[in-house]
Amino acid sequence: MTTILPHGGVLIHQYDPQLSVENLEKELPLDRISFSDLELIAVGAYSPLTGFLKKEDYESVIRNSRLQSGIVWSLPITFPVTEEAAEGLSVGEKVRLTYEGNTYGVLEVQDIFSADKALEAQLVYGTTDLEHPGVKTLFSRPNVYIGGEVTLTQKPEKSFASYHFEPSETRAIFAERGWETVVGFQTRNPVHRAHEYIQKSALEIVDGLFLNPLVGETKSDDIPADVRMESYEVLLDKYYPKNRVQLAVFPAAMRYAGPREAIFHAIVRKNYGCTHFIVGRDHAGVGNYYGTYDAQKIFLNFSREDIGIIPLFFEHSFYCQACEGMASDKTCPHSADDRVILSGTKVREMLSAGEVPPSTFSRKEVIQVLIEGLQKTKVNA
Ligand code: ADX
Repeated sequence: MTTILPHGGVLIHQYDPQLSVENLEKELPLDRISFSDLELIAVGAYSPLTGFLKKEDYESVIRNSRLQSGIVWSLPITFPVTEEAAEGLSVGEKVRLTYEGNTYGVLEVQDIFSADKALEAQLVYGTTDLEHPGVKTLFSRPNVYIGGEVTLTQKPEKSFASYHFEPSETRAIFAERGWETVVGFQTRNPVHRAHEYIQKSALEIVDGLFLNPLVGETKSDDIPADVRMESYEVLLDKYYPKNRVQLAVFPAAMRYAGPREAIFHAIVRKNYGCTHFIVGRDHAGVGNYYGTYDAQKIFLNFSREDIGIIPLFFEHSFYCQACEGMASDKTCPHSADDRVILSGTKVREMLSAGEVPPSTFSRKEVIQVLIEGLQKTKVNA
């Protein structure tokens, strides 16, 4: 059985628990985003990256969505540090990478440069508006970027351990299950009926579904990952055939970069072993910053060989009362009056008020978990 090649041809492995760190005096602190990036680089999820971007790659990625080598890479994976932290650092030295006081890895300093935040925001996010959550995060991080190869020396504690797999492990799982074709699904939301519909439509033409919710940093009004994980479990248990679905967490931070992030999400899922990737309406979008299908259109800028994984595009889907089923503009002739379409904001409001959205929007078991989960979150807040 053949498996899809990782991006760039080789699955990167930058983990070495034997690497000695005691003799390294200097340390640089990671924030939550770069901490998750360190892990994802080391396990090969970001293949072909072996470290944080150096200046030439950074500029090439933000301007052309490609590394200097020409390989497609659409999001700058950078390591921002403060000017004080960068002071006295020199190219060629090795430093410990720490998170909350513990050492997790080593970085070989290969480049120290100033971020061009305005340009980065405009080119990657399409806006410099600080109301955009990705742009806000970009500007809130420090201004000096350190580029260089990394080695993970200690694996971070696993969030959702039973669903936490590295790309080499998911590749082995797919092979063991005999899946030649696997469709990846990215989400930062509970799986509602529209998500279920596009997943199952895709599953009709491939062997397996890789449900891969992002559980790294998200904006504060997104549903917390632990509540979402519980909602995926009940949904899969009740409505999906067990031999066709693999649930696994994607521990990256959400960037809300719409089209650029869709390319990134697809490539990363290729590294996990997927052959296909779902891109629906406003993938990785937020507010009205991107057009409904911009994250699909961006794939036209690249050849099939450039990306490797096959994107599967889906139109905005909904339940139609007249069709008595899930549909999209492509398959349903009826008017808006027949269609059950609720905005994310409306649903959040309903859930916080303990109101139950219709089962044509979301499965009742999912809603139950969300209402209980959000109540607990409120109590703990
Ligand atoms: S994302 O930010 O992680 O992309 P979300 O969890 O909402 O957000 O979406 C997961 C995937 O489902 C994305 O590919 C998105 O485009 C798609 N999607 C979400 N809602 C719909 C819908 N109603 N119709 C079609 N595709 C959708």
